[in-house]
Amino acid sequence: MCGIVGAIAQRDVVPFLVNGLKRLEYRGYDSAGLAVLSDELRRVRRTGRVAEMEGAALAEGLHGFLGIGHTRWATHGGVTEGNAHPHISDGELALVHNGIIENHEEQRDRLRALGYAFESQTDSEVIAHLIQHYLKTEGDLLHATQKAVRELTGAYAIAVVSQREPGRFVAARMGCPLLVGLGEGENFVASDVSAVVAVTRKVIFLEEGDVADVHLDRVDIYDASGARVDRRAHMSDVSLASLELGPFNHFMQKEIHEQPRAIADTIEPVIAEGFAPRLFGAGAEELLRDVEGVQILACGTSYYAGLVARYWIEEIAGLPCSVEIASEYRYRAAHANPNNLIVTISQSGETLDTMEALKYAKSLGHGKTLSICNVPESAIPRASAMVFYTRAGAEIGVASTKAFTTQLIALFALTGTLAKLRGRLDAAREHEFLEDLRHLPGSVQHALNLEPQITAWAEMFNHKHHALFLGRGLHYPIALEGALKLKEISYIHAEAYPAGELKHGPLALVDADMPVVVIAPNDALLEKVKSNMQEVRARGGELFVFADADSHFRDSEGVHVIRTPRHVGLLSPVVHAIPVQLLAYRTALKRGTDVDKPRNLAKSVTVE
Ligand code: F6R
Repeated sequence: MCGIVGAIAQRDVVPFLVNGLKRLEYRGYDSAGLAVLSDELRRVRRTGRVAEMEGAALAEGLHGFLGIGHTRWATHGGVTEGNAHPHISDGELALVHNGIIENHEEQRDRLRALGYAFESQTDSEVIAHLIQHYLKTEGDLLHATQKAVRELTGAYAIAVVSQREPGRFVAARMGCPLLVGLGEGENFVASDVSAVVAVTRKVIFLEEGDVADVHLDRVDIYDASGARVDRRAHMSDVSLASLELGPFNHFMQKEIHEQPRAIADTIEPVIAEGFAPRLFGAGAEELLRDVEGVQILACGTSYYAGLVARYWIEEIAGLPCSVEIASEYRYRAAHANPNNLIVTISQSGETLDTMEALKYAKSLGHGKTLSICNVPESAIPRASAMVFYTRAGAEIGVASTKAFTTQLIALFALTGTLAKLRGRLDAAREHEFLEDLRHLPGSVQHALNLEPQITAWAEMFNHKHHALFLGRGLHYPIALEGALKLKEISYIHAEAYPAGELKHGPLALVDADMPVVVIAPNDALLEKVKSNMQEVRARGGELFVFADADSHFRDSEGVHVIRTPRHVGLLSPVVHAIPVQLLAYRTALKRGTDVDKPRNLAKSVTVE
């Protein structure tokens, strides 16, 4: 979490730093700060959003040709101005940091003994003093940074400026993302490409352990051993328009409504190639051919995508499939079968728990690794043997929406491919599945058209304190996703259960104040779901049912029904994800919460 930016130019860099931080605000938004070098080193920090810090920077007339900035998601030390970045050492060196330094206590003791005074509770301040300490002895900011980072354990992306060296700044990364933006006579660093795309599309993704020495006219990059290296520059295809709100009020709203397009884009190569191993990269056929089982690892919404896929993989491909929360798997004495396929799912590609679970799987001997990811060049796909990039486009709202539905497409493509390699998918069935995929954007658009009816439901949820979500089979993970979305952005406590589990305990919670949302399209388990709904009604519970025309539900006392589009078959969870997203969004709007930046959260979770 946390976003960092840095710039050196022949013009005032403050506007770039502020706008870059605004783009990175999804990564953390409890405080923000800038340090800029003009005749002297000046710093502005504020708790709250970047806009508040921007106001202070304007009021103080902050400007300069060299500077760094930070937007924070607190880990070590509370949300205070003193803990906000940049941190300053000896009044002449400033540093911003994303990540966690594990040996900060021991470094702090050592630096205290050397006479450094600490003003914050953060682990980051030790890096500032450590670099300053070596700058005083080495006399060179690059060497000082290289020496200091070798003594850190943990994860970091940093940018550092010093009044002693006004012609450069230095940046480094290990375990947290950082890229260099190459301009004409000006250069930049940022946590992700959205922060630099307004000034340059030419970017270099720094590798683990890299240190970049950034000047006006050149950027020199050194690897972890200190050797000078050439890193390939990419032209980013992220468009500025994709990062703007356009006619929408929130990024979450925009991203919900982008789903027909996002799904159509993600489906495109599948329709073109059919269920083919090359969808997952060169060499995938070899790796996928003799797979004996599938282990999916992910967190949060991405984990729920994996839960849907389990039904598909077992039913269509006939392979055993387990799905596990990455932070649990990584600390378990897991039994490894190297012929199993490890699938990690991560929108951001940088979730630490998922990354560590992947590393753990590899350490157990798993070589068949596939990443499903939305961010090109991010850490998890780079550490995987195969990759499928979803084409959702930048997802900025903290609550994942279009990333989830496009992950489902990727997982369906994987299922079809495994089934075909195993001789379980004949041409007729493949054609049928591809047709189902082709019709999906249209069905999703129909689901979006339900928004007015869902808005009326949101009115009824506005004053509730709790909600239950029920589903069975393929739609149980959609109930889980609905509950997560609602709690995350409206702060209403919500839980999801497989409907058959209700009578084993949660039914005790049901009364007139407990809305029960049921995902009930016409599938093989519908009759079972209907019985479970009777159990709720008999206890006075109010039902809110998402059902397709074939489910044959009608509004009655205590039963509200919204007709979802008929998309029978195995892709129905994709269509049913839409109304639960809309219900959460519309309820949060009624309650006046900060939809795109819900309290206590951040978009990419690069801490344990
Ligand atoms: C919920 C949400 C989170 C993420 C989770 C994993 O709306 O967005 O639960 O799904 O933090 O993130 P990624 O997919 O980036 O690994």
